Amino acid sequence: SLPETYDSPVHLAIIGGTGISRLEGFKSVASLTVSTPWGATSSPIIILETPNNKKPVAFIARHGVHHQYTPSEVPARANIAALRSIGVRTIIAFSAVGSLREDIPPRDFVVPNQIIDRTKGIRPSTFFEGGIVAHVGFSDPFDDKIGQIVKGCEWALAGGAKIHDGKTLVCMEGPQFSTRAESKMYRAWGGDIINMSVIPESKLAREAEIHYTMVCMATDYDCFRDNAPPVNVAEVMGHMKANALNAQHLIGALLEELVKDDHNDLLSGTALNESSKWAICTS
Ligand code: ADE
Repeated sequence: SLPETYDSPVHLAIIGGTGISRLEGFKSVASLTVSTPWGATSSPIIILETPNNKKPVAFIARHGVHHQYTPSEVPARANIAALRSIGVRTIIAFSAVGSLREDIPPRDFVVPNQIIDRTKGIRPSTFFEGGIVAHVGFSDPFDDKIGQIVKGCEWALAGGAKIHDGKTLVCMEGPQFSTRAESKMYRAWGGDIINMSVIPESKLAREAEIHYTMVCMATDYDCFRDNAPPVNVAEVMGHMKANALNAQHLIGALLEELVKDDHNDLLSGTALNESSKWAICTS
């Protein structure tokens, strides 16, 4: 069993989505149980060390180690608060998504730059309530610098999979998938991919002044194509397995790049997005 403490701050975290409940290929050096004012995290925080220079990286399984939390039930405030409390300043979050575009086939990856929030307001989505009010900016929800570093690691993907960038991610409540009419509406709105998890995680990361990037892994074409069968679980599972393997390749390449000294600003907090500094808030 792993040590339950880790002595230095951990600046970088990976959040694994459906299909990525653990990180293979890295040395685990600690397993932290962090309790927060918002409850327990969805999984223990595993601390891994990068092979070359032994920089620590935190890992959380968003849906729990046994995939026991639906997207609506994920304790996102606990996850983000716990990561922030151990020193995290940058999060790279993985998520399975449906594609709303023919040119984003299953098994391609996408680094989105925009979100359309279609969750229903039932997920606790802010740290600022109960007497502390703050309105942070969220016009550009993702960190473009890290997104471009991810894009630069496209070579690491097997099977000719691509990494698309500059796309719009629709986040729906679920857990059921969309109707055809909804799928077409999202396309008309400019949506390129769809998931159930980027909200409220990305909003909470912004409130906590953590750089946040999402790596979306396409598993299906959703249901906008009239003559094709709609999204089904068997298809999604097949692509999900291939995507999980490619995610491991990508994470290997990405960590090697991100932990280089020239990216210290992203990991140390010196280039914080200062969302609260510019927020409208109670004094
Ligand atoms: N996650 C994976 N595929 C999806 C889809 N088609 N809609 C919403 N979330 C998804």
